[in-house]
Amino acid sequence: MNLVLHVWRQKNAQDKGKMVRYDAKGVSPDMSFLEMLDVVNEELIAKGEDPIAFDHDCREGICGMCGVVINGLAHGGHVGTTTCQLHMRHFSDGDEIYIEPWRAKAFPVIKDLVVDRGAFDRIIQAGGYISVATGNAPDGNAIPVPKPSSDLAMDAAACIGCGACVAACPNGAAALFTSAKISHLGLLPQGQAERFRRVVDMVQQMDTEGFGNCTNHRECEAACPKQISTDFIARMNRDYIRGSLSRRPDKVGGGDG
Ligand code: FES
Repeated sequence: MNLVLHVWRQKNAQDKGKMVRYDAKGVSPDMSFLEMLDVVNEELIAKGEDPIAFDHDCREGICGMCGVVINGLAHGGHVGTTTCQLHMRHFSDGDEIYIEPWRAKAFPVIKDLVVDRGAFDRIIQAGGYISVATGNAPDGNAIPVPKPSSDLAMDAAACIGCGACVAACPNGAAALFTSAKISHLGLLPQGQAERFRRVVDMVQQMDTEGFGNCTNHRECEAACPKQISTDFIARMNRDYIRGSLSRRPDKVGGGDG
């Protein structure tokens, strides 16, 4: 297949950036989208030009590094598919493809298609952990976990933190990511000790980072390559209310209970 690519090129965070046209010739339908970009980059390097910068690591839908907006849709808009899992057979000979980075105030562009998602790291640092005593691993059956809770926790833990939810949201909200990270800990017994402190701290950090508010467009759910449900946002909001009330300084014994 021969394709025409329109790729966002931006030298650094200060540069204004612009779309640049490239011809991608002899593209195999069996290539992944990233392999197609690799071939384009090999040609650019051979011509002495600056290759297109894009993020990737695992190339198998696990690490969450590879997100780009393809023809206006995060990861290209195929259900449950990351950019690295997207194959060129979904395109046709002669297609024009527009490739852009995530667009969100909280995700500044570093270069071309690479954005700084450090805001996600700081949300995790604010509370995405459990505090446990070190020592030998406890017996696996020592803490019974109801099957529905473990299933739901695993659904939330499937979030790979790619940022497609933010890129797809008209408000640039990070509610789906944050709620998934809060829920996969808050649904398990080990996460109970810090459950309500966690939700308040992580939501506050989310706001501090400049993400927008969730107004239930649910574009995040549609764009999520791991098909995380917006039910987790509702769960986060319920826990946030409980956490906020229990941390009121005028409340005797205010805490995580
Ligand atoms: S490169 Fe790891 S999810 Fe795509």
